[in-house]
Amino acid sequence: MDKCRIVVVGAGSGIGAATAAHFHNRGDFVVAVDVRANETPASRHLSCDLRDPASIDGLLGELGDGWDMLAHVAGIPGTWPAADVLKVNYLGMRLMTEGMLPRMRPGGSIVAVASTAAVGWEQRVDILAGLLEATDGDAVERWQAGQDPNYPVYSTSKQAVILYAKRLAGPAWAKYGVRINTVSPGPIETPILTDFEKSMGKEILDAVRSTVGRHGTVDDVVPLIDFLGSPQARWINGQDIQADAGYIASLTAGTPIAL
Ligand SMILES: NC(=O)c1ccc[n+]([C@@H]2O[C@H](COP(=O)([O-])OP(=O)(O)OC[C@H]3O[C@@H](n4cnc5c(N)ncnc54)[C@H](O)[C@@H]3O)[C@@H](O)[C@H]2O)c1
Repeated sequence: MDKCRIVVVGAGSGIGAATAAHFHNRGDFVVAVDVRANETPASRHLSCDLRDPASIDGLLGELGDGWDMLAHVAGIPGTWPAADVLKVNYLGMRLMTEGMLPRMRPGGSIVAVASTAAVGWEQRVDILAGLLEATDGDAVERWQAGQDPNYPVYSTSKQAVILYAKRLAGPAWAKYGVRINTVSPGPIETPILTDFEKSMGKEILDAVRSTVGRHGTVDDVVPLIDFLGSPQARWINGQDIQADAGYIASLTAGTPIAL
């Protein structure tokens, strides 16, 4: 296969670092983007703060065009201020995605990382539709100010990622010939997990682990990102794929089949 040109956002740590290293080691041209300096294996390293639209614009200008894939992996946990969580996880992902679309080759693919913490998004489409009307930081903050502060903002941010990708998938395919899908991991052993234990509750994460046997690793997620980005997935568009050993299915599908 020809060398692919891939942008990995959030390549400084965890799933994003493993994604960048995977494609780099395969011989692809990888640009590793992160807010932190890092030594992730890649052809090029660029800095960007997803909270800052000017920083995203600067990155897009540096990137130029002719890209086959955007792996948008960066994210922050619910231990951060709510406005930051929405600006990084939802708005930054959106600005990056819309900025990259005209820079991608037809047949290209965008894969954004959401989370199983987005479970239940289908029941919140009307609420999330308001957030999807917010396309700048002030509007995002105004929207959040009117929300129930007890609803976990990290879940909201990842629900917005899934709904946004589904609403974008048809138009992106029609206009650019580019697919967009999301990957929703369950708990994965990366540095963010300690923050999840604080914001979601350690007992909840321990319960997930005891149900499926272990937490996931980056190697449980990277092959899925690879596949969704590849031409083999050419007819898959607007999907959210959970990579969680079936935990969410066991919660949402009713009585398990007895074996
Ligand atoms: N690890 C898990 O259990 C898990 C589960 C579900 C979803 N996720 C999601 O997977 C993605 C990757 O998480 P991870 O586990 O690798 O965590 P991580 O903390 O190891 O990596 C996140 C990366 O995002 C970068 N980042 C943070 N803020 C940024 C900003 N403003 N601009 C640019 N980059 C920024 C960080 O510097 C870091 O390199 C995140 O979107 C996270 O929400 C993780």
